[in-house]
Amino acid sequence: MRVLDLFAGAGGAALGLHREGFAHVACVERDPSAAATLRAAGFPAVEADVRDVDYAALAGTIDVLWASPPCQAWSSANQHAERKGAEDVARNGWPWTLRIVRLVRPRWAIFENVRNARRYVEHTVVPELHELFAHISVWLLNAADHGVPQSRTRLFVIAGPFPVFPPAPGTRRSMRDAIGVAYDKPSPCVMTTEGKGRPTDPSWWKKLNNASDALAIATGGARLKLTVDECAALQTFPVGYPFAGRVEERYRQVGNAVPPTLAAVVARAVRLAEDGANTIREGLPALGAVVELVLARAVALVRASPPFGVGAAEVDAFVARNVDRLRALARHANQRGTW
Ligand SMILES: C[S@@+](CC[C@H](N)C(=O)[O-])C[C@H]1O[C@@H](n2cnc3c(N)ncnc32)[C@H](O)[C@@H]1O
Repeated sequence: MRVLDLFAGAGGAALGLHREGFAHVACVERDPSAAATLRAAGFPAVEADVRDVDYAALAGTIDVLWASPPCQAWSSANQHAERKGAEDVARNGWPWTLRIVRLVRPRWAIFENVRNARRYVEHTVVPELHELFAHISVWLLNAADHGVPQSRTRLFVIAGPFPVFPPAPGTRRSMRDAIGVAYDKPSPCVMTTEGKGRPTDPSWWKKLNNASDALAIATGGARLKLTVDECAALQTFPVGYPFAGRVEERYRQVGNAVPPTLAAVVARAVRLAEDGANTIREGLPALGAVVELVLARAVALVRASPPFGVGAAEVDAFVARNVDRLRALARHANQRGTW
């Protein structure tokens, strides 16, 4: 499955898709430090604004377009975020992203965003996607339900040729499992600002605004700041993932990322839908051959000994009316590999 990744960041989503066997053709990201990380991790980074890239050569060649459009417009820190997001044209990346989807015409499009964008997505994005794709799913997934040691709820929109089944919840992992601190729940959401740490006043920690608050609770305030590596572990990046840039740039890349394990769960759901459809498509000729054989045998049997009270002419008429139609359908499946 050939992937075009837009707003690729440091490659959290890219890594998840890569783990599921998807192959990236281009990862577009304008931030130089994040693009450097992508290159160091071996992804085909295109360091540019997604609006300035020429996609003509990719049109019709992409299986999966993954996009995490900028979401500051809806970020939960933003008051009245739901209403304001759509009005914040300059920071709303959805319209540009949908223009690129129209140009590239991928087989599947997967979008990731903050949960506050949900109403906008359902009212504005999904109707537009229905013009381009047969099936659209909108999921809110909490990373903590899918093997990520962090509570991080994100909106996913999956558009493609077949329905996709939402992933069943999997193993839960705690902050202790991931980085060995005494906090036995998934950490609160890892933010881009973890490098700033938290105030020393314990009344703050009760609010659990970010992962550093949980660390402060776990250590009784002895340490109030997670390292970049600890944040990366809570996001399920592998040890030694080559984040590039200054320390604050690395915190930002980690905090912005889709947890690779969560991206892999979404990618697996799409791959299962695709594999399921392929299996059916590949099995159709064989199924057609079996149906033809069974029908031929049934017709021969009925002709040889017609049921009591039914004349041979009636049997022939029945065969002509029904069985031959079924047989034609089976033959069609044989030849075309499709019903
Ligand atoms: C939420 S992060 C994406 C995270 C990424 N999908 C991952 O899994 O690591 C959004 C990214 O979009 C990038 N970005 C924002 N506007 C952009 C634009 N116009 N063109 C290219 N990249 C952009 C930001 O630099 C940021 O890295």
